[in-house]
Amino acid sequence: MLSTELAGIKLPNPTVLASGILGVTGSSLTRVSKAGAGAVTTKSISLKERKGHPTPVIATYAHGMANAVGLSNAGAEETLLEIGYAVKNSPSPVIASIFASTITEFGKVAEAVSKAKPHLIEVNISCPNVDDEFGRPFACDPGIAAVVTKKVKKSTSIPILVKLSPNVPSIAPIAEAVAKEGADGITAINTVGPGMLINVEAARPVLSNRVGGISGPAIKPLALKCIYDIYKSTKLPIIGTGGVTTGRDAVEMIMAGASATGIGTGVYYRGIEIFSKVSEEIQGLMDKEGYNSIEEMRGVAHEE
Ligand SMILES: Cc1cc2nc3c(=O)[nH]c(=O)nc-3n(C[C@H](O)[C@H](O)[C@H](O)COP(=O)(O)O)c2cc1C
Repeated sequence: MLSTELAGIKLPNPTVLASGILGVTGSSLTRVSKAGAGAVTTKSISLKERKGHPTPVIATYAHGMANAVGLSNAGAEETLLEIGYAVKNSPSPVIASIFASTITEFGKVAEAVSKAKPHLIEVNISCPNVDDEFGRPFACDPGIAAVVTKKVKKSTSIPILVKLSPNVPSIAPIAEAVAKEGADGITAINTVGPGMLINVEAARPVLSNRVGGISGPAIKPLALKCIYDIYKSTKLPIIGTGGVTTGRDAVEMIMAGASATGIGTGVYYRGIEIFSKVSEEIQGLMDKEGYNSIEEMRGVAHEE
């Protein structure tokens, strides 16, 4: 049985489309959901339109991807119809990812996207490519992460997931701080870094922004350690994200403590069929190892 639950929301399987990949329009979200994703997440939405960084914004290398898209999006009001379309037509739950550069704005954008009634709101406080009002991502400080969580909780009645950054000395205190302020779940991790790729012939960094967040297979061990630490320190459900490309990767996330697993860069390697393929591979491993449910397998790597 592949079904799982996030903050009271039921998912038919644990694969979740991560934010930033095929999540701009209602029809693309619906297409991914129909292709087998257990839930789909929108690209992060801000209060007002953002143009993002100039191209090139994405580059791949042998072990993953670097991106500095710069959170381009049409703004909350413009996006409502897209979220609404996905909520109406997707067979699996829809998660609206929100982003802001001030605490007040986080409250406003949460209130705005709630009108489209997504099943969950994911609070992106962890993008490494853009600065907030304090000059670094909110997810780098437990006190500030807690204030954002409190503000968003006050602004919506929809359950919220707070998306954390691996770019901190220790992720557990941040998870504990957002849990204390009422976060209903955690998504971890956002991209690592930022890092850099250099074009040797041009003798310049590949990305126009020079640096970008690193994702894909290279970051999986870092993600697993973060999920393991978060599971140990809070009781919250976790979407374990970072380098998941196969069912075996997903099972590692669940054994570390995740209730579901995000897939972003993996779509580049295996297309949108990745969601149904990973589900089949998880089921195969569960049958082989004798697990009857995701819940039964969750966190088993912690046992002595
Ligand atoms: C091209 C690209 C765009 C992304 N945009 C967002 C975004 O808008 N909001 C967000 O929270 N995360 C964003 N991410 C991060 C992913 O959601 C995910 O946390 C990260 O890439 C690690 O997972 P992966 O290795 O499966 O890609 C983006 C990642 C990529 C590769």
